[in-house]
Amino acid sequence: MVIIAPSILSADFTRLYDEIKAVTDAGAEWLHIDVMDGHFVPNITIGPVVVENIRKKTSLVLDCHLMIEHPEKYIDAFIKAGADIITIHSEAVLEPLDLITQIKKLGCKVGISINPETPLEKILHIIPKVDLVLIMSVHPGFSGQKFIDDVVPKLKQASEVIKKIKKQIYLQIDGGINNQNAGLVKKNGANVLVAASFIFKNKEYHTAINQLKEA
Ligand code: DX5
Ligand code: ZN
Repeated sequence: MVIIAPSILSADFTRLYDEIKAVTDAGAEWLHIDVMDGHFVPNITIGPVVVENIRKKTSLVLDCHLMIEHPEKYIDAFIKAGADIITIHSEAVLEPLDLITQIKKLGCKVGISINPETPLEKILHIIPKVDLVLIMSVHPGFSGQKFIDDVVPKLKQASEVIKKIKKQIYLQIDGGINNQNAGLVKKNGANVLVAASFIFKNKEYHTAINQLKEA
């Protein structure tokens, strides 16, 4: 079964609670929270205070995607705020293993992410230690970008690596996901699909989520 994780980056922030309730009612299981710092990526978005407030209002899995430099400085704050999963970028830290151990010790699930141009080889030694691998299918920073087809072979490669490991590791894809490419990414092993604009720019969240699930 595929998990749909709407990214609130494209939600109407003046009505954030209603938006979260609407995607929940429409069948979302996770909520993807894009954290950007203006350094690792050019954009600035959401911090722990927003996560803390969302936590009070939902039991969805809060999947925090940290697109920030020095993620080690903010791990405690995001865990205290109620994050269920924290994903860090392999490009943001020299050697992520210590930080991954630390996040796990604090009782939170942990993911590792790679940008479109980063080869899977960079994280092969890390994959057995994490709960989630995130393959970026756009350059991180903004929602509404076009899916980069070139990442599909890397997605498949990640799926084959994960299959050989005897534990549950989610394979997430993020960026430009819509009803046209959802089938392709699922066929190549993705089991968590993040989508911001395809869901929140659709009048019918239920229809959009179902299209992703059934593609
Ligand atoms: C991009 C973010 C994505 C983004 C996806 O940096 O990590 O999660 O919100 O947006 P769409 O689905 O519109 O490409
Ligand atoms: Zn994201």
